[in-house]
Amino acid sequence: MKNFICPHCKSSLRLQNRSLICENRHCFDLAKEGYVNLLPVNWKKTKDPGDNSKMMMARRAFLESGHYEPLADKLAEIIKKIHENERATLLDLGCGEGYYAAYIKEQNRAINMLGLDISKTAIRYASKKYKDISFSVASAFQIPISDNELDIVLRIYAPSSDSELQRVIKKGGYLITVTPGERHLYQLRDIIYREVRKHREEAKELKLFQLEEKIKLTYSLDIQDLPTIQNLLEMTPFGWKISEEDKDGLYKMGQWHIDCDFNIEVYKRDD
Ligand SMILES: C[S@@+](CC[C@H](N)C(=O)[O-])C[C@H]1O[C@@H](n2cnc3c(N)ncnc32)[C@H](O)[C@@H]1O
Ligand SMILES: [Zn+2]
Repeated sequence: MKNFICPHCKSSLRLQNRSLICENRHCFDLAKEGYVNLLPVNWKKTKDPGDNSKMMMARRAFLESGHYEPLADKLAEIIKKIHENERATLLDLGCGEGYYAAYIKEQNRAINMLGLDISKTAIRYASKKYKDISFSVASAFQIPISDNELDIVLRIYAPSSDSELQRVIKKGGYLITVTPGERHLYQLRDIIYREVRKHREEAKELKLFQLEEKIKLTYSLDIQDLPTIQNLLEMTPFGWKISEEDKDGLYKMGQWHIDCDFNIEVYKRDD
């Protein structure tokens, strides 16, 4: 919790009983699950921003069945290589229900792991399950972390602002992003959109950062059970885009061969 700062006045927070308090006496109570909500009510554009409970439960069930474990494994390996012997501070930005942060922490025990998401539901799930990670409800566009504080930011399928990334990552630090590759979930997109729109593949330019490595991770899933395909649909925007007729057709298939295609990019901040 020591890395988070007050969202109002940006000063540091200290733990007093079960509250985080800044020098200007702004006070944030720790929830019973252990997370802290640093998203002031008047900053919210909607009452309950971010992914909802249904999406979150579907994502947790899908991830826990191990279908994206090759991605988690690859990320843990990259992070191990970057920060071999140091106690790095890593922020999982838009961490959802915490699967990747927890997996990486498990493989890199020395890491000081932080998770942030605008969805209170996600953070509640995350902090209830993973006790050695500091979780906060907050916006990726106003990160409650001091300048030059983080060694690594991990961003998996989540929004962010360049200026905030440039501000919070220290010199020599890293940004690791995961975005869908051209063939990611191709077979589902084929059913939903009829013509398959390709995801853009070029790496993004980010001022102050150099692209160090670009890794393409591809494999196929052979799914044999209906709950897994239902979860995959419900954890993505496909869940609300698919027509009832297409959903029926998809569910009746009985087995599903689906491509996974992830683009992992590793950027290093100039020294
Ligand atoms: C597609 S999910 C990915 C979650 C997680 N990284 C994973 O791969 O399992 C995107 C996440 O970004 C969060 N999110 C959306 N807008 C956000 C914002 N402005 N600030 C922080 N998180 C945000 C959502 O609540 C959701 O958990
Ligand atoms: Zn304050």
